[in-house]
Amino acid sequence: MRKPNKSSRKDYFLSGIIKYFIIKIFNSLDPLKGPLAEKGYLKSKIKNVPSFNSDNEIISTKEIVEYVFQNTKVLNHIKKYIFQPRLDLVRIIQSPLVKENDQTLWHHDSCGHRIKLYIGLDSYLKKDIYTELVPCTNRNSYFDYNFTRIILTSEEKNIPTKKILLQKGDIFLFDTNMIHRGNYSNDVSRKLIEVEFSSAIRGFILPGKIGRKKNKRENNLLDLVEIKYCF
Ligand SMILES: [Fe+2]
Repeated sequence: MRKPNKSSRKDYFLSGIIKYFIIKIFNSLDPLKGPLAEKGYLKSKIKNVPSFNSDNEIISTKEIVEYVFQNTKVLNHIKKYIFQPRLDLVRIIQSPLVKENDQTLWHHDSCGHRIKLYIGLDSYLKKDIYTELVPCTNRNSYFDYNFTRIILTSEEKNIPTKKILLQKGDIFLFDTNMIHRGNYSNDVSRKLIEVEFSSAIRGFILPGKIGRKKNKRENNLLDLVEIKYCF
């Protein structure tokens, strides 16, 4: 048997190092780690959150969002879950939410792993209105990310769904790649602050997989006010 010469040993060593770093890079590009990774969502409560002031919605939203960022671990959880997270959108969502619209069907949000944070504003729980999730489906990958309205598989049908109701003091984080739907009412309204995070490098290295929508979002308060955050 021929003895490996010095240069082939060197090539073998170098290819090992290259493989090691490629695996490292892939792992860091797709972290999906931390508490959010377990089921794809987290719900918690926060005390002393400032009250929403309808007379000055923009400044009031800024105060509430910055209070949540400073007094909870949401940014930490997002940092562990998404590579190079960035804040894309802050807006107020207010009903009426129309029953039987597109959002009431099971779907994912067509842009891979993106985090939404909901901050409840209603002073009491509105039982008719909630977001419903199929836990642990956040890791699903889809053949076509434009085909978003989906039929649950037989395995997914066996997963007990989670209904998320929100009121003031409730915060809710979820990966919009997870299968979810809204349960709305024509009569009852819901008010919350919606915040979106995605990866800053989406579209360069990670087409489709870690996402943010490219279209300009309507009513984005980030066009009007700066929100302080630091990962
Ligand atoms: Fe959605």
